[in-house]
Amino acid sequence: PLAYAHVSVVKPCRLVRPVTQIPERSLVHQEGLPKLPVPSLKQTCERYLAALEPIVSEEELEHTRQLVQEFLKGGVGDRVQKGLERRARKTENWLSEWWMQSAYLDCRMPVAVYTSPGVVLPRMHFHDRQGQMRFAAKLIAGVLEFKKMIDNENLPVEYLSGKPLCMDQYYQILSSCRVPGPKRDTVVNHAIGKTPPTHITVVHNFQFFVLDVYNSDSTPLTVDQIYMQLEKIWNSSLQTNKEPIGILTSQHRNTWGKAYNNLIKDKTNKESVRAIQKSIFTVCLDAPMPRVSDELYQSRVAAQMLHGGGARWNSGNRWFDKTLQFIVGEDGTCGLVYEHAPAEGPPIVFLIDYVVKYMQKTEIVRSPMVPLSMPQKLRFNITPEVKRDIEKAKQNMNIMVHDLDVKVLMFSHFGKNVPKQHKLSPDAFIQMALQLAYFRMYNICCSTYESASLRMFKYGRTDAIRVTTVDSLRYVQAMEDPSKQKVALLQKAVQTHKENAYNAIHGQAIDRHLLGMKLQSIEDLTSMPEIFMDTSYAVAHHYNLSTSQVGSKTDCVMCFGPMVPDGYGVCYNPMDEHINIAITAFNSCEETNAAKFARAVEDALLDMRALLEDTATAKQ
Ligand SMILES: *[C@@H]1O[C@H](CO)[C@@H](O)[C@H](O)[C@H]1NC(C)=O
Ligand SMILES: *[C@@H]1O[C@H](CO)[C@@H](O)[C@H](O)[C@H]1NC(C)=O
Repeated sequence: PLAYAHVSVVKPCRLVRPVTQIPERSLVHQEGLPKLPVPSLKQTCERYLAALEPIVSEEELEHTRQLVQEFLKGGVGDRVQKGLERRARKTENWLSEWWMQSAYLDCRMPVAVYTSPGVVLPRMHFHDRQGQMRFAAKLIAGVLEFKKMIDNENLPVEYLSGKPLCMDQYYQILSSCRVPGPKRDTVVNHAIGKTPPTHITVVHNFQFFVLDVYNSDSTPLTVDQIYMQLEKIWNSSLQTNKEPIGILTSQHRNTWGKAYNNLIKDKTNKESVRAIQKSIFTVCLDAPMPRVSDELYQSRVAAQMLHGGGARWNSGNRWFDKTLQFIVGEDGTCGLVYEHAPAEGPPIVFLIDYVVKYMQKTEIVRSPMVPLSMPQKLRFNITPEVKRDIEKAKQNMNIMVHDLDVKVLMFSHFGKNVPKQHKLSPDAFIQMALQLAYFRMYNICCSTYESASLRMFKYGRTDAIRVTTVDSLRYVQAMEDPSKQKVALLQKAVQTHKENAYNAIHGQAIDRHLLGMKLQSIEDLTSMPEIFMDTSYAVAHHYNLSTSQVGSKTDCVMCFGPMVPDGYGVCYNPMDEHINIAITAFNSCEETNAAKFARAVEDALLDMRALLEDTATAKQ
């Protein structure tokens, strides 16, 4: 979900953005966090060359070695490094603004499918509007309960490897929204302003409503009250022939930026848009989707979360710029989609775990009813120009829907338990299975991205664990060769992955440092160092496999689109005894196929278990 990070970096940027501000009360914990370090130049150069070894040819590698030598010895590297170190001294985080810009706000691809991840929740047992609204009402109450912890500052601080993590992202996911610009987007966070919002937006049959979720005494509405309000919304949005205004937000960002300016010329439209942007979050009450077999159900829901199913289904029942959108279908479907700029997956699933637990213990108790006013419907004046923009957005959305290939694999044979029994890191084990699956399908290995959290540092976001290493390559090659010591090679590859993951979360990976040096060169207005214009650099950043582990207590799975047109997006949630894996690709690429890759992953996992068990038996 860090799509096209490498291609969109073109110009220096300076910005004052509300996104990294947090309410003052939580500054105590935040102040104690260390700053993101700038790794040493020599270390990054060495690690970069090592990372290239399994993915580029010997000639390319030799050429790059020379460029790296020049970069190190010729003074250019030192100068850029000094510039970065100066930036690190002057800012709270040398990377965070650059990263926000280059990975997200400058990125012009649509947010739907290309950057916004979805989450598929387990299928619910309702099949009608009552069930849908009851579920949505409880969910809304659960999120408001979670919001209390944010407002009252008693959100538990998370830890990784014994170190407290930056909690800033939690303050960015509610009451915020992305706003398109003609060349660059922004994110506005209304939680920080003088009058934080007290409403959510609900969308049904493409019609948006403002639902006030607090009483005049600032207590949240009860589940019962929310249910009644949802029913009113449902009853006054029965027409299904409305213009799907929200589909505009699924467009290419430049196109949407232009359409946006045109849309908000009208005062009513501007106020309606602002009400959506300012709302705490959005709830999409989706129309039922075509039924599919149980086997395909999860994959269909993943697609529904990522794009809504197309113009004639639920793609217009969204505001894709909204940071958090919960999706509840009349057919028992539920999940969410979130705009990636303000936060990574872990805070989102932490919220889900909390809300799901809350919903399990909450029953609707009928309470005496204080009459509440009718939720306000948001009006839009559809001029011929807006109508034309909607038609274009519908066409493009339908193309995206046809292009996205999704397969959710609910791997049921084992989970974290098996690698743990054999004293292997479950994450590294699954990553090696992905490497093996890819190698078996393509007979080569590819540049592989696994996101690593930088939240040990103030305002830290992510760096990349480069999964493909000389050791992972030796291991996958050995799996096809009866004469090799497969288990020893697997253990070695897993150990290397663990070390790379450790380095990454401690701020010692190479991707963001390389990006930083590139951006520093641009900011210094000097010529671009050759190492960044080299073929190897392009290959290293063409991530055919873009992966992320997003673990949760809830039996859900996150999903996101591939990072490159000819690659896969793979997100997995390893549970104790099973693994949920969402795989995406594009149909327009003939070489990729999500279902085929899913089968290869399943086989790889089973073969790896067999390998470990055979070896264990042989030893006894
Ligand atoms: C909504 O419509 C249904 C069916 O017509 C009706 O039973 C219910 O009372 C209505 N609810 C509200 C809040 O108007
Ligand atoms: C992976 O990326 C390379 C470019 O680095 C490309 O040539 C290749 O076709 C890609 N593989 C697949 C399976 O698409």
